[in-house]
Amino acid sequence: MQSNSTHHDGTRSIYLETFGCQMNELDSELVQDQLVALGFEFMDNRDEADVVLFNTCSVREQAENKVLSRVGQLGIEKKKGRDVVVGMLGCLPEREGARILSKYPQVDFICGPSELDKLPTLLNNAIAGIALSRSDRAALQGNRSRRSATLSAAKDNLELLDLARAFNPDHRRTTSYSAYVRITRGCNKFCTYCVVPNTRGAEVHRPPDSIIEECRQLVATGVIEVTLLGQTVNHYRYTHGVALNADGKEVPQIGPGLTAFKKPIDVSQQVTTFANLLQRIHDEVPDIQRLRFLTSYPRDFSDEALVVMRDCPRICNYLHVPAQSGSNRILKLMNRGYTVEEYLEFIDRARTIIPDVEIAGDIIVGFPTETEDDFMETESLLRKVRFKNNFVFSYSPRPSTVAIERFEDDVPRTTKLRRLNHLLKVGGAISGELHREYEGEVVDVFVERISPKSRRTNGVELRWNNSTVQMTGRTSGDLICVFDVDSLEMANSLVGGFVSVLVTESAPLLLKGVIQDPVLAI
Ligand code: 5AD
Ligand code: SF4
Repeated sequence: MQSNSTHHDGTRSIYLETFGCQMNELDSELVQDQLVALGFEFMDNRDEADVVLFNTCSVREQAENKVLSRVGQLGIEKKKGRDVVVGMLGCLPEREGARILSKYPQVDFICGPSELDKLPTLLNNAIAGIALSRSDRAALQGNRSRRSATLSAAKDNLELLDLARAFNPDHRRTTSYSAYVRITRGCNKFCTYCVVPNTRGAEVHRPPDSIIEECRQLVATGVIEVTLLGQTVNHYRYTHGVALNADGKEVPQIGPGLTAFKKPIDVSQQVTTFANLLQRIHDEVPDIQRLRFLTSYPRDFSDEALVVMRDCPRICNYLHVPAQSGSNRILKLMNRGYTVEEYLEFIDRARTIIPDVEIAGDIIVGFPTETEDDFMETESLLRKVRFKNNFVFSYSPRPSTVAIERFEDDVPRTTKLRRLNHLLKVGGAISGELHREYEGEVVDVFVERISPKSRRTNGVELRWNNSTVQMTGRTSGDLICVFDVDSLEMANSLVGGFVSVLVTESAPLLLKGVIQDPVLAI
């Protein structure tokens, strides 16, 4: 089966669209590296690609609907004769299983998030157009990973996928200077509304040496900002000598249960905690100028980890720590495992140890049975914490979660929407005040790129000249900061470095300022 748009040298072009969280962004990056190494080429045009891949998200119904409408469109195009291979990756096929293949015949193959190492085979088979049985068109984890306490290295090919990108000289990142590094995969928390424990499987913790090796390799390719990823990143804990492969090398292991954090660490075991891991990366890979991590769980965040953050100058003073609700009753129904008081105690502790820490969060409004009083408690939590920004979501019942089975989705859509808009307004005002407090201060900014607006108006794309170019970057606390420079040459020379910026103006999610001398400030 030869596609019309295949390049004359036989290269196949792929369009890859990513939905959802940073984990998905990282997965897409690894997928891209893997397929580029095999001779595929990536393009931005969905209409002309030989292969269309969707890396999907299942966290809310809306995200699924978006993908399914794209898939519907491709079905129409295929019926009209377009020769295109369609693959669905990520959490949606993992959740929906092989049903996707019968419901959407235009989808040639599906691949769950823990099986991405099998993607090249699935893709090559689909391109070859071999009449495949359904099981040969689907790579899904199912509930396999919850069965054993350790994963053998041979089976854990995904670990190889994580490591392989670091060795790939053609490595392409979202921006050349920033990269994500996974430290744990999956989740064991089972919040009642959440699909992640089902789609991404049991929590697996990577050996610290593998993580550090990956960081080193990234730095060698020019990365200076690393964001560590995990669903509950502070639950990272690796017990040495337990999970070994046949050569005696440490391999990923299933994470400890929540109760492990209630007891002191067994002194007879050598353990790398989250605090130890942060310290090791900071000390052993000093060329990482900024080290961040996502997403924190409000429980079991040790003082040690906060102290490491405070004492290591290259670790950012930034926490993303979702509260989800300000009502103890709702938190209990969500199975979050903490009370509002415990959440606030953690925020206080973090601010006492790291006074200038910035905190971002997530809230779900309209969880089943949420009353006006519950909602007001959430608003009050927002006012107490003063998040730098807070992501608000409307509760979306998800198949095979505890919440959908136990609770009726009884908060009307209009009420959810009103609550969502109200919290966005309150959150916006708080974040506006918080940003205003920076006016007159000098902040150190990691310069990420020429701002998209400036790209359009400064001739980078349209080729006419304005007198200044707007740059955008972030502070250590993850506040977005924009500033102008005089020329495109200057702009290009600053990307990927640090500058000091005097903040002159602010908006709810933005600082604006004047560049001081470019310095390598940390
Ligand atoms: N409905 C709405 N929001 C959800 N989130 C997770 N599951 C759901 C759901 N079923 C939100 C949580 C989480 C963020 C990534 O998405 O706030 O922190
Ligand atoms: Fe989902 Fe809760 Fe795990 Fe976060 S901690 S991924 S919300 S189950």
